[in-house]
Amino acid sequence: MNILGIETSCDETGVAVYSSHQGIRAQALYSQIKIHADYGGVVPELASRDHVRKLLPLIEQTLQQANLDKRDISAIAYTRGPGLIGALLVGSSVARALAFALDIPTIGVHHMEGHLVAPMLAEDKPSYPFVALLVSGGHSMLVDVAAPGDYQVLGESVDDAAGEAFDKTAKLLGLDYPGGPKLAKLAEQGHAGVYRFPRPMTDRPGLDFSFSGLKTFALNTVQQSDRSQQDFANIAYAFQEAVIDTLRIKIGRALQQANRQRVVIAGGVSANLQLRTTLAEVAKKDGFEVFYPPLAYCTDNGAMIAYAGWLRAQSGQYDPLDTRVKPRWPLHELVAL
Ligand code: KG4
Ligand code: ZN
Repeated sequence: MNILGIETSCDETGVAVYSSHQGIRAQALYSQIKIHADYGGVVPELASRDHVRKLLPLIEQTLQQANLDKRDISAIAYTRGPGLIGALLVGSSVARALAFALDIPTIGVHHMEGHLVAPMLAEDKPSYPFVALLVSGGHSMLVDVAAPGDYQVLGESVDDAAGEAFDKTAKLLGLDYPGGPKLAKLAEQGHAGVYRFPRPMTDRPGLDFSFSGLKTFALNTVQQSDRSQQDFANIAYAFQEAVIDTLRIKIGRALQQANRQRVVIAGGVSANLQLRTTLAEVAKKDGFEVFYPPLAYCTDNGAMIAYAGWLRAQSGQYDPLDTRVKPRWPLHELVAL
């Protein structure tokens, strides 16, 4: 069975083919970063228009790479939500039109389920049950995953997502959008102990996050700084340290509350190498295991959508062709597999 996966929820056009006996056969990704960089963030209308331009050529390219004809596709998985409505409409319209023409079924995938199952595409994959920490540009949440598709949201961000906080703080430090990876790079030159940022919402019980205060703290710190490259690196270091420490504390609590020994970390921020180093040390000390997607599948991509679609297809969960996109879609609305 070959599943074509299409991701267009935000500013990456992602396409992949997942084959039930070979895994990911081919994948292609086009990032719109250059288009949005001048504006310091994603411009929804420009995102939709660019998905229109890039999606069909990327599908052709991916099928060619996989050495497949359109008629070899068994089903099409596309991101149904959450995300930007115009961007979602491009992917879902192309997916449904192609499926209609080929007379094959479609699966409307939840973007965060895509992130959550991406670690299953790694060589070292987790077994169920586990706790998942999903940290992307749009969402931050802790989810107890008892079995495939059986999700209980334990906590989420009450304001900015972790990736969003990285991007906004990076902007204050003069770094281009999306600043997360650039801030992480700058932090490598920073010195420990020069600044100390707060660890939001760790002084009270609970698993929700709040990252918007860190951005305000960063703004005040930048205003008092001597604006040298070294001092900006010190700020980047302290900011990243606070985010990672906050995530570490909440992961520990979530594992205890759900009584699990495994944590899966996915979404764009899971590409952060300092996060991975810190978590490896903590996991060793506290006796739990940590799993990540392959680096290429941490940020948005078509492979995770193709794979999540395949999982849903396995249990016959196809969607009719008149299915509407869901720009807002709580994870708990998904039915178990
Ligand atoms: O999952 P993703 O591609 O898109 C959403 O679904 O939102 O995540 C993108 C986010 C951006 O905020 C980006 O700055 C952040 O992930 N990100 C990172 C790193 N790589 C990507 N943040 C910190 N360190 C990184 N290495
Ligand atoms: Zn994402």
